[in-house]
Amino acid sequence: MVKLAPSILSADFTRLGEQVQEAMDAGAEWLHVDVMDGHFVPNITIGPLIVEALRPLARAAGVLLDVHLMIEAPERYLATFAEAGADIMTVQVEACVHLHRTVQAIRELGVKAGVALNPATPLAAVEEILPFVDLVLIMSVNPGFGGQAYIPTSTAKIARLRQMLDKTGIQAELEVDGGVKAHNAAEIAAAGATVLVAGSAIFNREMSVAENIAAFRQALLSVISDQ
Ligand code: DX5
Ligand code: ZN
Repeated sequence: MVKLAPSILSADFTRLGEQVQEAMDAGAEWLHVDVMDGHFVPNITIGPLIVEALRPLARAAGVLLDVHLMIEAPERYLATFAEAGADIMTVQVEACVHLHRTVQAIRELGVKAGVALNPATPLAAVEEILPFVDLVLIMSVNPGFGGQAYIPTSTAKIARLRQMLDKTGIQAELEVDGGVKAHNAAEIAAAGATVLVAGSAIFNREMSVAENIAAFRQALLSVISDQ
C-alpha cells in the first residue's frame, strides 16, 4: 500500500489544525513538514514550533511527522526537531558535508533518517549511505515552493532507485516529493515509490481535503490491481 504524506506547506495556516485533522481523518498516513531556511532554498517557511504544535494531533491519530529539512548544515537543528516531535527527519544530501555522521546523529536521537536528492543530483550520491537510512526522497521539482510541475524524467530516476534498493535488499521507504497529483500518482507508484508527498493537490480551493485524498486513493487502485 502506497502511503500519502500531505505537505502542510499548501495548507491554510489560519486553520492548520482543522486542515491537518481533515487529512488524517481521510486516511493520510504521514504529515509532511517542509522546513526552508532562505539559504539552501530561496524561501523561508516553518520551524520546530509548528512540529511541536502538530505533535499531539499526529500522535492521537497514529500519524508520523515527516520533517523535510531544506536547510544548510541541518545537523545544527536535529536535536531541536527531534524534541519537537519529528518521527522522520530527511536531510538534503547537497546540504551535508558529512552525510554519514548526520544520518547517524538522526538515528541516535531515536528518529528515522532520510536523505533527499535534488532533481540534478545523481543516485550515485546516495549509494554509499543506503544501508544506513530509513528513507530516500526523490525531489521531482526543484525544492523551494509548492505548486510546481512534476519533472517527467523523475519517473525513470525513481525506477532506477527502486532497482538499487531491491538489488541490495534494502527496505528503505522511497518517497517522492513535488508536483505529485492524482493524475500522475499511479505512474510514480508503479515506478516503485512507497510514499507520495502532495501539497497543492491535497490542500487547495477546488475540492475538500477529503475529496482530494479520495482522488489519490482512486488513482492508486490501478497500481494495486496491476501488482
Ligand atoms: C517543495 C517541497 C514540497 C512541496 C510540494 O520544495 O519539498 O514538499 O510542498 O508541493 P506540491 O505537491 O504542491 O508540488
Ligand atoms: Zn518536501
